[in-house]
Amino acid sequence: MNNLDNIIKGAIESIKNSKDVNSLNDIKVKYLGKKGELTSVLKSMKDLPAEERPKVGQLVNEARKQIQITLDEKKQSFENAMMEAKLESETIDVTLPGKALKQGHLHPNTSTLREVENIFIGMGYKVVGGPEVEYDYYNFEALNIPADHPAKDEQDTFYITKDILLRTQTSSVQVHEMEKGKLPIRMISPGRVFRSDEVDATHSPTFHQIEGLVIDKGITFADLKGTLQEFAKRLFGEETKVKFRPHHFQFTEPSAEMDVSCFKCKGKGCRFCKGEGWIEILGCGVVHPHVLEMSGIDPDVYTGFAFGVGLERISLFKYEIDDMRLLYENDTRFLKQF
Ligand code: DAH
Repeated sequence: MNNLDNIIKGAIESIKNSKDVNSLNDIKVKYLGKKGELTSVLKSMKDLPAEERPKVGQLVNEARKQIQITLDEKKQSFENAMMEAKLESETIDVTLPGKALKQGHLHPNTSTLREVENIFIGMGYKVVGGPEVEYDYYNFEALNIPADHPAKDEQDTFYITKDILLRTQTSSVQVHEMEKGKLPIRMISPGRVFRSDEVDATHSPTFHQIEGLVIDKGITFADLKGTLQEFAKRLFGEETKVKFRPHHFQFTEPSAEMDVSCFKCKGKGCRFCKGEGWIEILGCGVVHPHVLEMSGIDPDVYTGFAFGVGLERISLFKYEIDDMRLLYENDTRFLKQF
């Protein structure tokens, strides 16, 4: 019995001092295993007198129970500690401020372009593209601007060779569209154009235009006015007024420039319209019969109208930006305001 007491004390002592679950296993083997200390006590019972055996057997069983309980408790305390450490390391501080994700968005010019496109798509127009590097013929000649005409000088052209240039106007796409010979035509063509201008608040060597062309039987200046008035109202608001001023373009006759009432001051005059109450946004006119003829369309059967809108002009106006350079510099401090 003395021996048994010592075994229990030894077992409990080493359980107390154990450092981890593995060492508990070793202790279990040492005391309770098949070759363990308690088992050897049981084996030695055969040397005892028969009447003592049940008593010793009972004591051994109690010792086994006690050691097992102590082992279980210690194991549980190791597991609790591990769980606590894990929870500690995985703690999330829900009071910390979140990380804001910076989201990109459309450039003001892109937004304007999409708006203009949607207005004309809604009126049954198709959107077509055209080359930025162009033959002199499409940019000038076929638009009724012959080689020696002074109108050619007005457009400060970047020439690549004598006959090839960077287009100065999207009007060149009119010619490509007419040459296809599919009538009627109802198209807009947005794109980049180039002129050898110095950069300043209102000029850039590259900017964007949106060309429009309608050709059908019986088209008149009245169709042009109605269409462009509707366009202005959809773009700038129902109360917008338009004004057509006589102008000259080689490829239209008659020609006009269209002004819209300043949507900021409703025509009273402000900083944006430079006190005028009106802002010029496009050139337009009835397609010159000679232009139709050169592209193979019979001017006695078909008539049409055309217009060219400056995309940047509209963006500057719509978003109240006072310097065109801001649209090209891609400074995110500027861009993220829109
Ligand atoms: N291409 C002209 C320009 O760059 C704008 C223009 C005027 C286009 C009249 C047209 C038009 O189609 O009919 O100034």
